[in-house]
Amino acid sequence: CGIVGYVGARPALDVVLAGLKRLEYRGYDSAGVAVLADGGLATARKAGKLLNLEKELAERPLSTGPTGIGHTRWATHGAPTDTNAHPHLDNAGRVAVVHNGIIENFACLRAELAERGHELSSETDTEVVAHLLAEEFSSCADLAEAMRLVCRRLEGAFTLVAVHADEPDVVVGARRNSPLVVGVGDGEAFLASDVAAFIAHTRSAIELGQDQVVELRRGGVLVTGFDGRPADVRSYHVDWDASMAEKGGYDYFMLKEIAEQPKAVADTLLGRIDASGSLTLDEVRIGASELREMDKVVIVACGTAFHAGLIAKYAIEHWTRIPCEVELASEFRYRDPILDPRTLVIAISQSGETMDTLMALRHAREQGSKVLAICNTNGSTIPRESDAVLYTHAGPEVAVASTKAFLTQLVACYLVALYLGQVRGTKWGDEIQAVVRELSRSSQDVERVLDTMEPVRALARSLAHKGTVLFLGRHVGYPVALEGALKLKELAYMHAEGFAAGELKHGPIALIEEDLPVVVVVPSPRGRSVLHDKIVSNIQEIRARGARTIVIAEEGDETVVPYADHLIRIPATPTLLQPLVATVPLQVFACELATARGNEVDQPRNLAKSVTVE
Ligand code: G6P
Repeated sequence: CGIVGYVGARPALDVVLAGLKRLEYRGYDSAGVAVLADGGLATARKAGKLLNLEKELAERPLSTGPTGIGHTRWATHGAPTDTNAHPHLDNAGRVAVVHNGIIENFACLRAELAERGHELSSETDTEVVAHLLAEEFSSCADLAEAMRLVCRRLEGAFTLVAVHADEPDVVVGARRNSPLVVGVGDGEAFLASDVAAFIAHTRSAIELGQDQVVELRRGGVLVTGFDGRPADVRSYHVDWDASMAEKGGYDYFMLKEIAEQPKAVADTLLGRIDASGSLTLDEVRIGASELREMDKVVIVACGTAFHAGLIAKYAIEHWTRIPCEVELASEFRYRDPILDPRTLVIAISQSGETMDTLMALRHAREQGSKVLAICNTNGSTIPRESDAVLYTHAGPEVAVASTKAFLTQLVACYLVALYLGQVRGTKWGDEIQAVVRELSRSSQDVERVLDTMEPVRALARSLAHKGTVLFLGRHVGYPVALEGALKLKELAYMHAEGFAAGELKHGPIALIEEDLPVVVVVPSPRGRSVLHDKIVSNIQEIRARGARTIVIAEEGDETVVPYADHLIRIPATPTLLQPLVATVPLQVFACELATARGNEVDQPRNLAKSVTVE
């Protein structure tokens, strides 16, 4: 997840290790370095924190020249072990590569390499690149050219940085999607996933564009496209301090993570839906025949992940017709739930370490049920103890209140629901085909919502003095309302409640008083339009009693306009997918309100990112 490359006059090992330390905030579970010295390559890799790598280097020092690369890895393919840690080498040990992202066609490239006699020693997609680079370099003797040739064969989103022992004064980087920044110093140059790694040395930077390769030498840098043509580059001066640099220029990690949601959603979808709309979830190692036998799904999770589970229930039951229960993990095992080998239990957890969720899944497995984990942290306890795991690719989430992990949990739940339908032979009608199409492009919808958040922030600031905010929703809008309320409790320390809008008349309506802010999530007027009309009546009811209505409604839905004191527009989506766009304004709202109240956004009082006690 963190990449550093250096070529200059100083010992590369020191510069690279210092750079990796400054990228530690990005989260990682193993680390490694490769430096050039004495005509060869020297490497060290260790699972765990940088401290482990430093201990290894103290016991087995590397002689270092002035060229090197380093990496902190957040595991995607393969567990966080020493052998899976980067850099990866070719068989001759002449080329070393570090990589962020996912190479989608690695399985087929790996098979090709094996046929040509290469021996691959790790489970990673990265190692494939080292071998391919070695092959290309042997004919062109130019690492940058070899990188361009290899990149043209790779599919997916990736950032690569490589060195070759036969070109000891060069570091080469390549970028598609995941960021890569060049730092230009005096007689030295740097490459890193963000400027935090090198701002102690230089503030002169170049951001690489999509599909570009950079060749770093002491005397300067050369940027080309994957096609070899020289590229236009934009140099800029970095005026952030070190802590701003970690947050990519945002004031809080939470803001950065909210902004990263389109990418997190796209990465979680990557390689899982093919052009014909069918799903490939190879990771779900529960056989199709077993999945066909399942007669019940039970979802267990806590906090925000529980809300993702509530939404999943609507999708699973509607698309597959399998009964689905959702339960707070902390309640689950104490009520002696009915479980057997025909129950599929889905445990959702960002951290993979939440004790309540872990205990619930252990209980389910003791009863003979199969457990599928949906998790963001490779190699953590929950996926390790489950029968199968579908990873979300949100990347490390630092802020305590979950944002991008939630959206990717939703994506994973939709994928699981559709996959269950696929293996069970649910008839793929037009509705589901449309859903698959829309899901594939949902990251663009999330992006569009993020582009229109200024009025939401202004509204949040104007409500900073309020004591209570209520949230209403129906159908999947109900869990969205719960999540909106949870965000506000966590961040703004305000009294916030989410209700099913239909339940209003059975009690909560007594809470409505003059100028009480009530956020209402309105379902699409298309499709399930009965729901839409019912919620429009609910808005009228609360408004008649003095509430200040904050209405989240689809673009083009004009029926809500007369009853909305504030209107927040979201793109039109199929009803079941609406939470992907409807949640985003609520995250922004809570974050801004908390800031306006002077609260610490990333580390709210009394809360922990991962709760490892029951
Ligand atoms: C903690 C966090 C919440 C999170 C919950 C579940 O309470 O503060 O933001 O939703 O744990 O975490 P998990 O890692 O299992 O998704």
